[in-house]
Amino acid sequence: MEKQKELIERLRVERTQTEEVILKRRSVRNYKKDQVPEFMIKRILEAGRFAPSAGNSQPWKFIVIRDSEIIRELTDTAVKICRLFKSLIDYRVPGRKWRLPLAKFNIRLKPRDLHPVPFGAVSMIADGRLGLFHGAPTVILIFKDVRGVSCPDLDCGIAGQNMALAAHSMGLGTCWVGFVKLAFQYAFKWKKKFGISYPYKFATSLAVGWPVGTPDGMVKRPAHAVDWYENGTRQVIF
Ligand SMILES: Cc1cc2nc3c(=O)[nH]c(=O)nc-3n(C[C@H](O)[C@H](O)[C@H](O)COP(=O)(O)O)c2cc1C
Repeated sequence: MEKQKELIERLRVERTQTEEVILKRRSVRNYKKDQVPEFMIKRILEAGRFAPSAGNSQPWKFIVIRDSEIIRELTDTAVKICRLFKSLIDYRVPGRKWRLPLAKFNIRLKPRDLHPVPFGAVSMIADGRLGLFHGAPTVILIFKDVRGVSCPDLDCGIAGQNMALAAHSMGLGTCWVGFVKLAFQYAFKWKKKFGISYPYKFATSLAVGWPVGTPDGMVKRPAHAVDWYENGTRQVIF
C-alpha cells in the first residue's frame, strides 16, 4: 500500500519513460543512409507481435524490406500512380473545371482516400514535393488478415504503433506511410512479388531509420473535449 502511495506521489511530478516516448514521438521524414542493425528491427517486430488484438487473433503479416532497390521500385510505382491520379482527377488545376464531376464521382466511391488532405498529398507525391519512404533504409509493410476477429485494421494499427514507439525508444525515427497502398491496389506485380493473396490485404507501412537531427519533441495538439462522469456529475475536461 505504501509503495502505491509513493508511486502516485512520484507520478504527480514526473512522467514515465513510456509516456515520454509517446509524447515526444514525431513522424521523421529525413533519414541517414546508415542501415539499422538487424537485431533492432527484430526487437521492433517483437514489440508488434506483443500487441493486443481482438480474440488474440493477431491478424497481421509483417514484411521487412531492407533492399534499397526494392524500396526504390516500390516508390516509383506509387509515384506513377499518384501522377495518374493527379492527371485524371485533379480538378483544382486552373482550366480543368470539367474534371469536377469526375472527381466528385470518385470521391463518392473512395471518400477516405480522396479526402482533401490525402488528395493534396497525392499531388505532392506526384510532383516530387513529398517523398514516399523519405529515404528510410528499412520499411515494414503491415498486411491485415481479413479473417481477423472484429476489426483487423485496428489490430494492425495497434501493432504498428507498438513498433513505432519501440523504435523511438531506441533513438530511431519512424514515419507511417499509407500511400504505398496505391502500389498494392493498382499494380498487381507487387502482390505477386511478396506472395500476398487472400486472406491478406495491405493495411499500412512504417518507414524506419536513424533520423537526421533530432525531430522528436513535443508539439501542441488540439485538445478534444472529454466528458467525465463521476459522483453523479458530468464535467467537460480538456
Ligand atoms: C495511418 C497513417 C498513415 C500515414 N501516412 C503517411 C504517409 O503516407 N506519408 C507521410 O509522410 N506521413 C504519413 N502519416 C504521418 C502523419 O502525417 C502524421 O502522423 C501526422 O501529421 C502527425 O504528425 P506526427 O506523427 O509528427 O505527430 C501517416 C500517419 C498515419 C497514422
